[in-house]
Amino acid sequence: MISKKLQDAINEQIKHELYSAYMYLAMSADCSDRNLVGFASWMRMQAQEEVAHGMRFYDFLVERGGRVQLQAIDQPPLEFGSPLEIMEKSLEHERFVTARINHLYDLAQEEQDRPAQVMLQWFITEQVEEEASIDEIVQRMKMFGADGPALFMLDRDLGARGPEDDAA
Ligand SMILES: [Fe+2]
Ligand SMILES: [Fe+2]
Repeated sequence: MISKKLQDAINEQIKHELYSAYMYLAMSADCSDRNLVGFASWMRMQAQEEVAHGMRFYDFLVERGGRVQLQAIDQPPLEFGSPLEIMEKSLEHERFVTARINHLYDLAQEEQDRPAQVMLQWFITEQVEEEASIDEIVQRMKMFGADGPALFMLDRDLGARGPEDDAA
């Protein structure tokens, strides 16, 4: 049986993951609006991954005899700025999520909940990958440019990401 404290924190994390999905979907719509087809497809896949993250926490709570209590999800922005700003905002958001995951892990240690610690280790690894993959894109844009032919090629490369790549 999971502690009330950890249950509440995981319910809050489900909200953060689903907000992440909402944010990436809003970014995808913003990119579609500017004909950045590859960016839009990449963001849409990010959104799907975030739903899967939320469901991992959801399933964990159910399995542990906890109570899932869904919380209100904030409305994401309509526009996110330039393509570089969109990626920088994604990175900033992933860093926020990493901090939340780390906090959850600390809490699982305090509560001496070993299954929660094991479950959270997957997320700790996942966040390292998430931050690294987005940082790589940000660095590429800073080094080679974020408009003209460089943007065209990046959009093409992002569009090549399949659902099996960088899997949730
Ligand atoms: Fe996530
Ligand atoms: Fe993420």
